[in-house]
Amino acid sequence: MEINLVTKVWSVDNDVENIPSCTQIVDAARLLRAGEAVAFPTETVYGLGANALSDAAVEKIFAAKGRPSDNPLIVHVGEREQLSTVAGTVPEKGQKLMDAFWPGPLTIILPKNDQVASLVTAGLDSVGVRMPDHPIALALIKEAGVPIAAPSANRSGRPSPTTAAHVFADLDGRVAGIVDGGATGVGVESTVVDVTVDPPVILRPGGITREQMERVIGPVELDPSFQVGAVETPRAPGMKYTHYAPEGEMWLVTGDEAQVRAKMAELLAEAKRHGQKTGVLATEESAAYWQEQAAVDVVLSVGSRHDLEKVAQQLYAVLREFDHQRVQFIVGETFSREGLGMAVMNRLEKAAGGRILSV
Ligand code: TXA
Ligand code: MG
Repeated sequence: MEINLVTKVWSVDNDVENIPSCTQIVDAARLLRAGEAVAFPTETVYGLGANALSDAAVEKIFAAKGRPSDNPLIVHVGEREQLSTVAGTVPEKGQKLMDAFWPGPLTIILPKNDQVASLVTAGLDSVGVRMPDHPIALALIKEAGVPIAAPSANRSGRPSPTTAAHVFADLDGRVAGIVDGGATGVGVESTVVDVTVDPPVILRPGGITREQMERVIGPVELDPSFQVGAVETPRAPGMKYTHYAPEGEMWLVTGDEAQVRAKMAELLAEAKRHGQKTGVLATEESAAYWQEQAAVDVVLSVGSRHDLEKVAQQLYAVLREFDHQRVQFIVGETFSREGLGMAVMNRLEKAAGGRILSV
């Protein structure tokens, strides 16, 4: 479908006191209420929002992103009372998770009610809901007065946006507006946990770790599909698509450090022989080493391998920068799967489209 909009951009200072009533929020909320799609920052990544109670509004999200219609959206609420507009009864473990982690990067799958737009749930009988921990997102949802369905604000398949500039690059002319609130904090998306089953199951690893949830509600399982070497079809429909991928071909190499470096060097030399522009997704610890290698054109560091929060924060911007520099062949190291590392590794594996070598 041809979309040809003039995309408004509002800049909002992260000065908490003034946000709720500022003209930018009022203006953006008015467009949301009028059934338009508007992008806004959350603590994880930028989202592309629309009224979750209107199929016509939600359709604009799918059209702008080029998103497959069997992939359900997360509904964002500004206060607990809004839950009842989209969800049915909340199981006890769901309540406990909300008490502990909302507002925050945790999406909870609940039974849906019949007010929520059918496009939001893509035909499922459940709905994913979260309360974002970001003053702009919360102010915007409250001002709009309706629950807001919002996937990440990228063109489908691309790395999620962590700045308004990323959103603009993907969606200029395709959405009614973008609220610019600076860079997001967590950098990877929310954890998606299904509490309609017991024990609850993590469908997508993200900003809240399994360990954090288990401290509050006891055992939490992992959907088998995103564990190492998985062959199962994921239960979060969105997890089965190519995603987060840079335009260049990306490989990950895992194993003992010396062997990893040797294998990465071999892959890079081979790509160079084929005339490709090469890149290394490096860490602070390895960047200097790779900068000295003749077969490497672009070295980008995601931060220290001992600081996974920083790595999560910078990951998508680095993947986009490889595209910006037109790198055709990228190799990266792998990270610990502890804590936030599970989300980081999940996104890296998807970015690499499963091209992982163990040495
Ligand atoms: O941090 C985030 O969650 C960001 C920000 C904008 O809030 N949003 C986000 O949305 O990442 P999206 O659409 O890119 O990813 C939503 C994921 C998909 O994998 C989708 O399949 C899954 O959540 N999901 C949504 N509703 C579901 C449901 N009812 N059952 C199973 N999976 C669901
Ligand atoms: Mg997404």
